[in-house]
Amino acid sequence: MKAAKRLDTVQEYYFSTKLREVARLAAAGKPIINMGIGSPDLQPPVKVLEAIQGSLMDVNAHKYQSYQGLPELRNAISNFYKDKFKVIANPDDEVLPLMGSKEGIMHICMTYLNEGDQVLIPNPGYPTYTSAVKLAGGTPLYYELTAENSWAPDFENLEKSDLSKVKLMWVNYPHMPTGQRPTKELFEKIVAFGIKHQILICHDNPYAFILNDKPESLLSIDRAKEVVIELNSLSKSQNMAGWRVGMLIAAEDRINEILRFKSNMDSGMFLPVQLAAAKALSLDQSWYDSVNKIYTARREKVFELLDVLKCVYTKQQVGMFVWAKIPATYKDGYALSDKVLYDANVFITPGGIFGSAGNEYIRVSLCGSIEKFSEAIKRIEACV
Ligand SMILES: Cc1ncc(COP(=O)(O)O)c(C=O)c1O
Repeated sequence: MKAAKRLDTVQEYYFSTKLREVARLAAAGKPIINMGIGSPDLQPPVKVLEAIQGSLMDVNAHKYQSYQGLPELRNAISNFYKDKFKVIANPDDEVLPLMGSKEGIMHICMTYLNEGDQVLIPNPGYPTYTSAVKLAGGTPLYYELTAENSWAPDFENLEKSDLSKVKLMWVNYPHMPTGQRPTKELFEKIVAFGIKHQILICHDNPYAFILNDKPESLLSIDRAKEVVIELNSLSKSQNMAGWRVGMLIAAEDRINEILRFKSNMDSGMFLPVQLAAAKALSLDQSWYDSVNKIYTARREKVFELLDVLKCVYTKQQVGMFVWAKIPATYKDGYALSDKVLYDANVFITPGGIFGSAGNEYIRVSLCGSIEKFSEAIKRIEACV
């Protein structure tokens, strides 16, 4: 059976193939330490687990749910945005619960892109932006981010290029994989750029609360709702990656447009998941502080590991990873990653998978215990 042509535009997700190799090594008896993927190992809050258990016996729990999500969850999202970001989003028509923000990336592309529409995508950046754009028939137009420019778009350069076919722009701050946090000035420039060129700005914001003492939303900028769609997620901030809960916040028209596509894809979210997600969004600051205390200690260990590898990094980065430049002795991040995988049984993500601008970098995940990081340091010390 020949697969559809659209699949020729994408490859299997890197982690899916590489993790199969890592799993094969583990099955062959190698004691692999996986420092690659950003899947939180910490538990969700107990009251969230109690909430899902409590609602399983609800007689309505197992029915189809509304396409727009329960009012309880939409209200919780709206209150969360008000409380955390001072952003007002009407729970009736400006928020849309998602099954993870990854599906939102696809929904946005399918909703807005016609064949040949161009989309600005960060290089380095989350690979899903590229695949979703291609699957939807759009054409990626990469904008390069550099350490020298604090991983911000070079607007001067962008203004010089032909933007007439650009319909959408993906932005993501705190940025994955570089850990760059946003500034108000950067956010203002992004919104002004979107308004000036009538480009829909899609801000992907899943790392706002990890090691970041000043979480920001692009929607807090004046006039942002004219051009901005923002995605957020419970995967990282509430340790609920496997639950698949995300959210989309935008002007009413955008929500309705995206719902026109999305309501043809799924039939609502499991009610207990929605009720528990609403609880997760009402956690107080002590939750975020306790998670970040753990990540802070882990990050120190990762810095130590990167010192052993003679990598260069900034300590100001935020999010769930540390991004580091490799020493010139390695051809690229892939070479370093393979050496460490085969000689020390430690898997570290090569930066090149996030785009060519990441070739000289690696990304280390903070989703592992201090003990694992200590063991990885010991093994790497023995092989470099
Ligand atoms: C930048 C970025 N956006 C979106 C996602 C997807 O998150 P979710 O679990 O909400 O689909 C990830 C997950 O790793 C990510 O790194």
